[in-house]
Amino acid sequence: RSFSQLSSQYQRSSPSFGIAFDIDGVILLGNSPIGGSDKAIKRLYQDSGNLRIPYIFLTNGGGFPESKRASELSKLLGVNILPSQVVQGHSPFKQLVNRFENEFIVAVGKGEPAAVMSAYGFKNVLSMDEYTSYFDNIDPLAQYKKWTITPATNENSTFKEMAPTICSQRVQAAFIVSDPVDWSRDIQVLCDILRTGGLPGREIGHQPHLYFANDDLEYQATFPSERLGMGAFRIALESIFNRIHPNPLAYTSFGKPSPLVFQNAELVLKKLLSSVYSNSHLINHATPGSHNFKTLYMVGDNPSVDIKGARQAGQPWFSILTRTGVFKGKENHAKYPADLVVDTVEEAIDYILRKES
Ligand code: G3P
Ligand code: MG
Repeated sequence: RSFSQLSSQYQRSSPSFGIAFDIDGVILLGNSPIGGSDKAIKRLYQDSGNLRIPYIFLTNGGGFPESKRASELSKLLGVNILPSQVVQGHSPFKQLVNRFENEFIVAVGKGEPAAVMSAYGFKNVLSMDEYTSYFDNIDPLAQYKKWTITPATNENSTFKEMAPTICSQRVQAAFIVSDPVDWSRDIQVLCDILRTGGLPGREIGHQPHLYFANDDLEYQATFPSERLGMGAFRIALESIFNRIHPNPLAYTSFGKPSPLVFQNAELVLKKLLSSVYSNSHLINHATPGSHNFKTLYMVGDNPSVDIKGARQAGQPWFSILTRTGVFKGKENHAKYPADLVVDTVEEAIDYILRKES
């Protein structure tokens, strides 16, 4: 569907506002819509199904390529969501493609971390599941783990041919794409990679690059209290690495609350608006994305991530904190107070549309 048709309300001038929605704890709990999100998101579309208000999802989560996440969200929420409307914790990794395009890298986390990196253009990437399967006995606890891992087995001839190459190929960087599943194995093998210069089982070497998609200590899933996130995994890895290695762990974390995420979100919303208004004289086609928003709303559930980030980003960001996720307080958050506190995302959308009408 094209976005060229706009409702009469916004036809004369392009909307001076946009919205960024956090996903976990605002739009979804696990895989279920919450806070009336499915009903409320539909209000951002015309009856025809075309987009009316520029909005994106700005999540620290991930594990699947943006195209796949967009189609899953479309099914869950009953609207047509574009891949360009999905900004995940790992989305900034694509900016590193020039540096590591042909280098051997390992991608860690739930879902399809290697597919995420391949979609960004990285050409020589293995998931941690596949990488570890080439090393005999790298995880001494594997025999006690009851789950099965799909990749290569010893019966496979390609596997046998590939194993010596993979095991002697230096890992240049490790990317923690999404929440790691098997912490014990991943911490073990990451320590192997990081302290040997990318060659597990060998002597100490220069630490390869290490990137985390976010640094969330906790996030809200389906269980009533918060769950440990990638930031907790980072603390575990870092604490252990620093005990077994002379130099402290060097790493870079992406994701909210970094101001860069909010700057990028503004750019993504501007580009989205340009495509919505592609047939309009109101957009300067010579410099797409040059439109200036008066207000950008960040709707989040985590004060120290979503609200802190929006506050630090400053104008034109306006922060709205929901009570459906990490934050469960009655009043505003003491350390990172939001511009507005509401119960649900439905209330947030109601507030925004009333204010902007
Ligand atoms: O793993 C997901 C989590 O860390 C945060 O997701 O959507 O609340 O930014 P979100
Ligand atoms: Mg959240």
